[in-house]
Amino acid sequence: MARGRKLYEGKAKVLFAGPEPGTIIQYFKDDATAFNNVKKGTITGKGVLNNRISEYLMTKLMEIGIPTHFLKRINMREQLIREVEIIPVEIIVRNIAAGSMSKRLGIPEGTQLPRSIVEYCYKSDELGDPLIAEEHITAFGWASPQDLDDILAMSLRVNDFLSGLFAGIGIKLVDFKLEYGRIFDENGEMRIVLADEISPDNCRLWDTTTNEKMDKDRFRRDLGNVAEAYQEVARRLGILPEGGLQDLQGSDTLQ
Ligand SMILES: Nc1ncnc2c1ncn2[C@@H]1O[C@H](COP(=O)(O)OP(=O)(O)OP(=O)(O)O)[C@@H](O)[C@H]1O
Ligand SMILES: [Mg+2]
Repeated sequence: MARGRKLYEGKAKVLFAGPEPGTIIQYFKDDATAFNNVKKGTITGKGVLNNRISEYLMTKLMEIGIPTHFLKRINMREQLIREVEIIPVEIIVRNIAAGSMSKRLGIPEGTQLPRSIVEYCYKSDELGDPLIAEEHITAFGWASPQDLDDILAMSLRVNDFLSGLFAGIGIKLVDFKLEYGRIFDENGEMRIVLADEISPDNCRLWDTTTNEKMDKDRFRRDLGNVAEAYQEVARRLGILPEGGLQDLQGSDTLQ
């Protein structure tokens, strides 16, 4: 598939203009960063796995009626998506205390939360993605109260669905981060869709019986076997090809 010009290079992905107007090719890199770009490294095969895992999870979510930007996977590292206007807010859904929430509030990691808690962060690398309140989002016009209601309802549905899906393969969905964007149709009607990616880069996934971490915390905290953990998530989802990663369809890749 013809790739257009490079539109944006982020920390984990590169966006290229897609074949049709309003489409983008999202290329998944092996690069990993943590602590707002202070720690950098590569996780061999991560891009291939995240491309496949995100395709799988977005497809499952579309099957239950969650609108997403996903159109199709093109090859090992690329997927075709709909171009959206990204809402500059990260939605974090938490089921078990971990990471920044544990630090901020002094709640030991692993504490089961009394109910799912949704947090918002302002997407800004310069500011370190600060925690914000709903008030900031609506007051500064990042999303209208109605948009925010929809985003919250969708995020809770995503949480319920993915929690069940992972529970079925012996994994606890501890927390995750979502991004949403706006799509405008021919009549100028606006729709909000789930964008970016859902992968072990932005979910905390713990083995149900051992609590072993199967996500980017292995990289953040130098726990080792990072690539193996991502592969194990794909294997349990039933999407790791028997012959290994190279058996994933398509191979016209950059790296
Ligand atoms: N459908 C889409 N249309 C347009 N932009 C998108 C879409 N989905 C995701 N994006 C944006 O593409 C970029 C993906 O690249 P990557 O995840 O590497 O960025 P990043 O380094 O995390 O930076 P950022 O702080 O911008 O998220 C992000 O900025 C994300 O918000
Ligand atoms: Mg990102």
